[in-house]
Amino acid sequence: MGALYRFGVSLEKELIDAFDRHIEEQHYNNRSEALRDLIREELLKKKWLAGGTVAGAIVMTYDHHKRELVNQLIDIQHDFQDIIISTQHVHLDHHHCLEIIAIRGNAPDVQKLAAILKAKIGVIHLSLSISAAG
Ligand code: NI
Repeated sequence: MGALYRFGVSLEKELIDAFDRHIEEQHYNNRSEALRDLIREELLKKKWLAGGTVAGAIVMTYDHHKRELVNQLIDIQHDFQDIIISTQHVHLDHHHCLEIIAIRGNAPDVQKLAAILKAKIGVIHLSLSISAAG
């Protein structure tokens, strides 16, 4: 094992509470162990995604009252129309929308689309689920 590095992380209370519940359910000894696994999983997924065409879905929740967010999300999706197969929109409650975007395309493009959407202010959560393209 290489040298250990420490770093600070700032999280909202609800998120750290949820993370602590996850840690307990998954029987981790501490937050560092749980975080290491999450990081490894992300890096492995990234490595796998580096090759070829994939299919999958982007699932995201956002606050549609955030200024200009809906227009931005539509513009982005038009920029990536070559890899978007379909989009399903669900109005969760007065503020929140759930969007499921079915995708098929080369891995870097799929990753780029997910990253751009995720970085938008007002997007509360986004996950990318990848499957084989055929
Ligand atoms: Ni909606």
